[in-house]
This record gives sequence, structure tokens and C-alpha cells, in this order.
Amino acid sequence: MPETVMDKLVSLAKRRGFVFQSSEIYGGLGSVWDYGPLGVELKKNIKERWWRSMVHEREDIEGLDAAILMHPRVWEASGHIAGFTDPLVDCKQCKNRFRADDPRIKGTPGQPDAQCPVCGTKGSLTVARQFNLMFKTFMGPLEEAAAVVYLRPETAQGIYVNYLNVLQSSRQKIPFGIAQIGKAFRNEITPGNFIFRTREFEQMEMQFFVKPGTEVEWFEFWRGERMKWLQGLGIRPEKLRWHQHGQDELAHYAKDAYDIEYEFPFGWQEFEGVHNRTDFDLSNHQRASGKKLEYLDPATNERFLPYVVETSAGADRTALVVLCDAYREEEVEGEKRVVLQFKPSLAPLKAAVFPLVNKDGMPELARRIYDGLRGEFNVFYDDGGSIGRRYRRQDEAGTPFGITVDGQSTQDQTVTVRDRDTLKQERVGAGQLAAYLKAKLAG
Ligand code: GAP
Repeated sequence: MPETVMDKLVSLAKRRGFVFQSSEIYGGLGSVWDYGPLGVELKKNIKERWWRSMVHEREDIEGLDAAILMHPRVWEASGHIAGFTDPLVDCKQCKNRFRADDPRIKGTPGQPDAQCPVCGTKGSLTVARQFNLMFKTFMGPLEEAAAVVYLRPETAQGIYVNYLNVLQSSRQKIPFGIAQIGKAFRNEITPGNFIFRTREFEQMEMQFFVKPGTEVEWFEFWRGERMKWLQGLGIRPEKLRWHQHGQDELAHYAKDAYDIEYEFPFGWQEFEGVHNRTDFDLSNHQRASGKKLEYLDPATNERFLPYVVETSAGADRTALVVLCDAYREEEVEGEKRVVLQFKPSLAPLKAAVFPLVNKDGMPELARRIYDGLRGEFNVFYDDGGSIGRRYRRQDEAGTPFGITVDGQSTQDQTVTVRDRDTLKQERVGAGQLAAYLKAKLAG
């Protein structure tokens, strides 16, 4: 089979240290991935950018970091125990399991004409049954029903149960929001497409609490803000589109929902959503906990349960969007090059420093430049192999600037700076490099 773009991206991600399969030396753990030295920087840059725009740049949003483990009654009240399920079918012949709506299945599962997409047997698929996606574990030393706790399948519930704590301690007034970045877990039936659908992932979620009746306006506001933010990551606008959920697609908590989709190499898929969750979650928690969660409006003395507009993004899926969007294969002077054209501020490494040759004072000056930049920028030192090979390695890492110390540098303290995308080189004074990089990395 010919190598697909995804195959190439997965192998580049491993080769350059972006993403590795979890527990690889034991054969790997299904659909769980580890971020290597460059991947962790890329994801951190995305998360920091999200946090800055959501929390630091807004007066009306507070941050939170709630625990992954929560009281099991949270998941009863939120509807996840009853409703966070996917329809599952088994093949009695080959023992594989599928989502009942797997497009590869021909016919209706449970019927004699239905065909297993793996072994091809007809009539071997069971009738669909509901499979809960939450991971269960036990709290304390007893492995019994009373000790069951869940790994959270969304970070949002940690926000709802803390909404009064944050409101009271931060002295916010409605409308206001709470933002959180954290791990979530789903025992997906059919994970796949690299880091697109995994069983452990990170979410960047914000719940905006508003007065009932104003939620449609805020919903539109947040749709606009989220699209602007994504375009600010440098993602090509023609690769992004909205998809409104039909009645059959809406999650159990949502009255209206729009996905933001990206055209991945494997097709258009959702990676972020804006949801109108009404007072579904707060009213359920109020009922189940017996604790009043109403808001007293100081201006009007009205009491009400706020409605919630949620923006929910996956940090891993956003990282995959950024990787896919940056990936290019080009021909340069008759040679093929693979390059990740990240927006410079998102790139894991901002610059690489190279001595042209390892003699004549060049390594010493290159080291001094590298040490001088390291305090402010994530930079890399490379003196191995031909300069062309070193440039190619940094192209694959998506490093926007290559700083080369050559024979002239030791005479006049200038270096060449190669631009990853235009391949143009300019001479810059070694003492001006920090200011040069800062200007190029803005935005
Ligand atoms: N709180 C709402 C919520 O969780 P969701 O659409 O189920 O909504 C939000 O998930 C985001 O989380 C998705 O847009 C996606 O980016 C990410 N996500 C969900 N399931 C995922 C999975 N199995 N692997 C990776 N990311 C996932």
C-alpha cells in the first residue's frame, strides 16, 4: 500500500521526537500516545496561547484546575452514567468489536445479512448494545461497588461543581466564565487516526455562565471568538468550517452545538465545539446535591440558575490540526524537503545555532550565541553533519530560524539567519539576535 500523508506524519513525529506510541517497548498500548521533546513544547505552546487568550486577556474569565477524580454522584447527576454511551456490536466469529454506526459495516447488526468488516463473516454481528465510555477504578483498598470512581470523561463537570466557589472567591458577576485545561479519559470503541481519537487526552474547556435569555447572543459571540483564535494559530481558513449538530447528533446535555471541523488528510473531522448547555448541568447538580446553585443578581435582586455556553477544544486534536496544516513536501534545488511550517510563535524550537565547521573559532562563538539565547528562547545547538543536513533536520522539526556562524562571523561578529519558509538568508549582528528573534516571533 502506498504511504499516506498520515503515515508520513506519524513517522516524522517519531523520528523528530514529537509523539511516540505509549509503552512501545512492550508492543504499545492501544491508542495512547506520549509526547516527546518537541511534541511537549508544541502542545504547551498551544495550551499557553489558549490560557492567555481565555484567562489572562479577559477580565470576565477565571482559571481552575480541578481533580480528575470526582465524587461518583457527579456522573450520575451529569447524565454520564446513563447517557455517555456508544452503541457497540461484537463479531461472534473474530471477536472484534465495533461501533454499531461504523461505516464499514454492511447491513444492520443483529440481522443475517450484516457483515463483519474485519473477517467478512455474514450474520456474526450481535445486536447493538449501549457501552459506557467512562473508565472505572476503585478508591481506597476495597475493590467493591461502593468504592467505584471514574476517570473524568470531560473537564467541564469540575467547573460546574466549583462554580459557586469560584464566583464567591473571585467576586465575579454574571456573565462570567471559568476555564480549565486538563486530562480526560474515554474508553473509545474505535480510537484511531494517531492522536485524533485516543483513550487519554487533554481538553481546554471554558464554561461561560450567563443570564437565561442571553445565551443565544453569547453563543454567537463565542463562536466568533473561537474561530478568530484558531485563525490566529496560522491555520489556513479554507481548511476550517462549521458544522451544526442535527437533533440526532446533540450530546445529552446540549440544546444547540456547533463543531469546528478541519480537513485532515483522512477527511473533515471535528476538533472543537461550542455548546449551549442551558442550565442542564447546574440544575441537575442542584437537585442531586441539595445545594442551592442559584445566582442572586445584585443589580435586580433576581435569583436565577445561570445558563452555560461552553467552548470545548481538545489540546491533542488541535496539535494534530497544527501538525497537519504545517506539513509540506517541497522540491528545493532538485531535492525533496519535508518541512513543518508552524507559525513561528508555536514552533517547539525557535532557532537552531550551527557552526559552519568545527574549527577556526566557529564552535566557540556559536556556543556563546546559543548560551546567550537559551535564557529567552527554546533554541538548539547542532554541529553534526553537513550544514545542508542540519538545515533539513530543523525543517522537519519546524524550527523557523537557522543561525549559522561562518568564517566572517569570527571577524565581524555577524551571523547568517536562514528563514525556514523563504530559505532566504540575512546577515545579522550577533548582539542583535535576541531582538531580531523577538520581533519575528511576535503574534
Ligand atoms: N465538555 C464537552 C465535551 O467534552 P466533546 O465534543 O465530547 O465535548 C470536546 O469533546 C473535545 O475534546 C473534542 O472537540 C475533541 O477535540 C476532544 N476529544 C473528545 N474525545 C476525544 C478523544 N477520544 N481523543 C482525543 N480528543 C478528544
